[in-house]
Amino acid sequence: SDPDLVARARAAKAALGDRVFILGHHYQRDEVIEFADVTGDSFKLARDAADRPDAEFIVFCGVHFMAESADILTSADQRVILPDLAAGCSMADMATAEQVAECWDVLTDAGVADTVVPVAYMNSSADIKAFTGRHGGTICTSSNAERALTWAFEQTAGAARSASDKGGGGRGAGKVLFLPDQHLGRNTAVRDLGISPDECVVYNPHKPHGGLTAEQLRDAKMILWRGHCSVHGRFSLDSVNEVRERVPGVTVLVHPECKHEVVEAADLVGSTEYIIRALDAAEPGSTWAIGTELNLVRRLAKAHPDKEVVFLDRTVCFCSTMNRIDLPHLVWTLESLVEGRVPNVITVDPETEKFAKLALDQMLALP
Ligand code: 13P
Ligand code: SF4
Repeated sequence: SDPDLVARARAAKAALGDRVFILGHHYQRDEVIEFADVTGDSFKLARDAADRPDAEFIVFCGVHFMAESADILTSADQRVILPDLAAGCSMADMATAEQVAECWDVLTDAGVADTVVPVAYMNSSADIKAFTGRHGGTICTSSNAERALTWAFEQTAGAARSASDKGGGGRGAGKVLFLPDQHLGRNTAVRDLGISPDECVVYNPHKPHGGLTAEQLRDAKMILWRGHCSVHGRFSLDSVNEVRERVPGVTVLVHPECKHEVVEAADLVGSTEYIIRALDAAEPGSTWAIGTELNLVRRLAKAHPDKEVVFLDRTVCFCSTMNRIDLPHLVWTLESLVEGRVPNVITVDPETEKFAKLALDQMLALP
């Protein structure tokens, strides 16, 4: 990176001292990670932000939904800053508040809403988290999705009982509406909870009634929102077959945001933090193909020179929105703070925050 920018970032960070706390998601560029006080997945970073009540400014090097979660979990006088407001997440954008409200009407009309508990992936807007909190659901991340789903199905058993006590519902008891990543939802339901793929239906917000009949909704156990990650969704069965041919003896390790067929063909599946731990524990001389974001895979390859670490599919690119946060944006943010300006503050309105926090707190309380 440009030595002048590095020097300016160092000087501005030093001038701010403990007033600023910089969080770096694992998918961020090296030039940004260099200045992070902590790194982690979205869940860990939200907790890390909450653990620093003394820091006036939380600079979140990640994407918009992560900064929103940090704002919800930090105190009112702390300001959460996203160095580039265009750093969104295409998956989070695939479920809007209006679409999800319409989906709930469809579930209500089909007579199943009473027996549905929503589970929203961390990678969703604060509005979707608030919807989840309002309907007694929980947030999950890729590292606790199994526990979240197990908990949700336990709640649905209760919901189904009380619905049938009231004389309604009860049919097809125990459903989860999983938002917005269909792949994480399906992979967790099928692999970890033993639910059949036939019991999973996909709700398409762009079709009338989600493209589903009332009967399909009544028969389903998992109602998966039709969303996906534009990075992880690009790994294919061919990627796995090709790497096994190219690198004999390779262990294929993929993130659960990948398609079900990719996850089925892989040797190991896990969250960002799981992938990092697996590489730390791996034998010297072992060979790995990793299916997650490229910045992280490159850093893992550098950190483990005694192992061979390759990218699962060389045609898949960086997460373009994660990459929007670069050193010039970080320098601009820090220098603005030094000069007394507070740019790009992310705030969630109090009503949304109240219900989103319910769902986030439910996640933190998962057994
Ligand atoms: P985690 O940070 O929870 O591993 O999620 C992966 C991801 O795609 C983040 O945008
Ligand atoms: Fe969103 Fe996927 Fe990028 Fe994560 S990697 S921010 S889920 S688009």
